[in-house]
Amino acid sequence: MYEQISHSLLNSILDDLKPDICRQDLRHFYTRLGANFYTIYSLFFNLYGHRDDVEAQMLRLVETMAKGYINRSAELEQIDIQREQDHNWFLSQKWVGMALYSNGFADDLADLVTKISYFQELGINMVHIMPILMCPTGKSDGGYAISDFRQVDDRLGSLDDIRKISEEFRRNDILLVLDIVMNHTSDEHEWAQKAMMGDSVYQDYYYTFDNREIPDMFERSMPEVFPETAPGNFTWNPEMEKWVMTVFNNYQWDLNYSNPAVFIEMLDIILFWANQGVDILRLDAVAFLWKKIGTSCQNERNAHLILQLMKDCCQVTAPGVLFIAEAIVAPFEVIKYFGEDAIVAKECEIAYNATLMALLWDGMATRNTKLLYQGIKNLPSKLERATWLNYVRCHDDIGFGFDDNDIRAVGYEPHAHRRFLINYFSGQYDGIARGKLFMPNDATGDARICGSLASLVGLESALEKTDEDLIASSINRILLMHSIILSFGGLPLIYNGDALGVLNNYSYIDDLIKKTDNRWIHRPKIDWEKAELRYKQGTVEYKIFTAMKKMIAIRKETSAFADFNNRELLPIENPHLLCFIRFDYQRPSEKVLVIANFDHNPQYVDVGAIGIKELAGRNQWVDLYSGRMATQYDDRLVLQPYQFYWLTER
Ligand code: GLC
Repeated sequence: MYEQISHSLLNSILDDLKPDICRQDLRHFYTRLGANFYTIYSLFFNLYGHRDDVEAQMLRLVETMAKGYINRSAELEQIDIQREQDHNWFLSQKWVGMALYSNGFADDLADLVTKISYFQELGINMVHIMPILMCPTGKSDGGYAISDFRQVDDRLGSLDDIRKISEEFRRNDILLVLDIVMNHTSDEHEWAQKAMMGDSVYQDYYYTFDNREIPDMFERSMPEVFPETAPGNFTWNPEMEKWVMTVFNNYQWDLNYSNPAVFIEMLDIILFWANQGVDILRLDAVAFLWKKIGTSCQNERNAHLILQLMKDCCQVTAPGVLFIAEAIVAPFEVIKYFGEDAIVAKECEIAYNATLMALLWDGMATRNTKLLYQGIKNLPSKLERATWLNYVRCHDDIGFGFDDNDIRAVGYEPHAHRRFLINYFSGQYDGIARGKLFMPNDATGDARICGSLASLVGLESALEKTDEDLIASSINRILLMHSIILSFGGLPLIYNGDALGVLNNYSYIDDLIKKTDNRWIHRPKIDWEKAELRYKQGTVEYKIFTAMKKMIAIRKETSAFADFNNRELLPIENPHLLCFIRFDYQRPSEKVLVIANFDHNPQYVDVGAIGIKELAGRNQWVDLYSGRMATQYDDRLVLQPYQFYWLTER
């Protein structure tokens, strides 16, 4: 868009650019900068226009983008251009992800490269390597308290290892996903250290206060993220003799995005990682980016503007790189992290579907799909060029953050229902699930749940009792949940160990550093000798792994599973089943009907009575997964306990 004020500013910025920048061939850069400039200018002035130095900061912003572009390799720029041409590339069903800690999946980054064949065997072609950057020992929050954004933790490897991984992944058509911890730094980061030494420039990088007056005002409306281990949102720093905002742990200092210098530093870091060959950046804790007194300091409008600005700037330098929003917030809030508009107000292309994740766990505990239906029905529709990251487990706890109105609408009382879920998964209900309470809050009665997928669905207790039926049903539950994330629409993200049925890892209890954070119970170290059992028929590992591998292969071949807002939820009377239809967006007559039984008893769909029109020619429907016709009895389609169908017309 051409607009006089912003473009005359752009011209004067271009005149002022450092000579070494001007001498480069910046053709593509200038085209993109021209296209995005009005938006960048508007957002930047909206956020920082009240400051005297706004134009000088704007010059720095453009220089940062230009420097990032100059440092981008020809190979990566070629990928940018390909992705611009095929801009829906990430909506394809061909992508299947896995999230892992490099030293849990392998020994370290160098060893991870030697295990690419495992990804290929299972069909994984997008790998999220959890935080790898420099963190202080003992105060790392699992890698999310970074002390140097440009240096790999030497216990894991080096920048060279990451370059090697990125090259090898690219050669094998595997996408690399890394974290950018945007919301905070470690208190050992250079910026925090300088702030502690009294440097006011760096004190302005954080929220620092001389006394409790303002912190107390904030506290009135701010919830606590880690109430058990890190109560309150501010920490007294004796060196600085100031309070500093620390929403997560007291050693994680919140960055102050009302300071444009912070924004520009973080943009520089994002572009640095984009230039290491990272395809997708997971932006951590994005809901927290803007703090305002009198609010929960989450999901603030300016947090969205920050993300829009980040996206627009990143598109100028590295347009092929995507963002994942990690915003574990209410469904009507999470949807906003895709942006307001696919072109002029874009934020992140991908967002964690924490709603679906929590709903699936609700289905597991209640064995009915009432809330699942309600929650999916009320999932707001997404923008174009936006997709969900669908997952069952990840390295974090499970929070039951569904909408209270949805809980009420299906006949439960929100507090009592959440209590039931917490009791169920911590084994207090029937002793089958082996979860642990995470951050129980006595004041609110809230708690979240930790535990590996296999232990939460009962595999651990089943193996202990050598209860074959329970073992079989736990395996089926693992497969059932994955059958949904693989067919729902979006990028499925499988968690490290889940394709092998890895149980809770209790060793964290003996580790002084980890013992207070029971999320370590589900951050496994893969035992590769045991993993060999995936080749031995009859073993748990074999059953899970071969089934997952098959599901993944089928997903990749099924174009109806791509994500083009091509899902229709089908209401049915049986309260134990979830039923939706997926259709190929270019050939809508090509459909896949997904039916999943969340109950431990066989269930049926009364085809005639409910009149699912898609089932009219039902004799022709075949299950993609088993390759067989769907079982029918008495004009009903029947499902075994925890069975799923992916039905398609023969
Ligand atoms: C994200 C991470 C989580 C971490 C938090 C604070 O939510 O997934 O593990 O504790 O950010 O950095």
